[in-house]
Amino acid sequence: MEVIVKENYDKMSRLAAKIIAEVVREKPRAVLGLATGSTPMGTYKELIRLHKEEGLDFSQVVTFNLDEYIGLPPEHEQSYHYFMKENFFDHINIPPGNIHLPPGMVENLLEACRQYEQDIKDAGGIDIQLLGIGVNGHIAFNEPGSSLGSRTRVKTLDNNTIQNNSRFFERIEDVPKYAITMGIGTVMNSQRLLLLATGVNKAHAIAITVEGPITALVPATIVQLHRQATLVVDRQAAAELKCSYRDSPHDLSEAVAYIKRQKGKKS
Ligand code: F6R
Repeated sequence: MEVIVKENYDKMSRLAAKIIAEVVREKPRAVLGLATGSTPMGTYKELIRLHKEEGLDFSQVVTFNLDEYIGLPPEHEQSYHYFMKENFFDHINIPPGNIHLPPGMVENLLEACRQYEQDIKDAGGIDIQLLGIGVNGHIAFNEPGSSLGSRTRVKTLDNNTIQNNSRFFERIEDVPKYAITMGIGTVMNSQRLLLLATGVNKAHAIAITVEGPITALVPATIVQLHRQATLVVDRQAAAELKCSYRDSPHDLSEAVAYIKRQKGKKS
């Protein structure tokens, strides 16, 4: 697992967008797993800038979002369909047919979950999955206690999550109680994970995720087992980490300089 601590939210967001843009440039038909919430908003803003100013092309990209509230129609301002349209899809050149979010209004939920898994498979699997993290360590809507091998399914939201998300609703009673979410197993099947965290209220969850034992009580800890997981966090979210981590990705220049010095000594 690669842990990168950036100075602030903007730098974290720019790096996350750069990593995603690299995937898209390398593979124009890339399959992106996307997240909602406040954390990735800066990343979407930067990806939109890269599209508008540097021609980053999304015309062949396919997307799958992590989750959706049950009971909110796509036009509802707090639905994740609405969030993604407003904050990302309406500003890039992705064909609407390439966009997938779990449906929150279908009655045959079991079939919808099965179909979502099948659609991801048919698209060739997710190349890079963007993740936020809950204060309680959830990823997507996989709340504490979720099976670490779970697939797309319906979950009841934790009281803690309902409380946290109530900031987006008029009254706490308006926060949906159920969500349809990719499972932890679904997320772990992605080729690459990119988990972001910002702010001091995420510091505890990040410390356990990176340095704690793997446990269903903190679902994000499973990313320790992923073969290509990158965590980009700001200094505040890194505040409770005990070990020190790198400040920039892929910066092997010091190691390469060392090899050169060693070679120089021999000759
Ligand atoms: C959203 C999602 C959630 C959020 C998490 C953090 O699609 O899957 O797991 O990533 O609740 O939310 P924010 O970023 O608002 O703190």
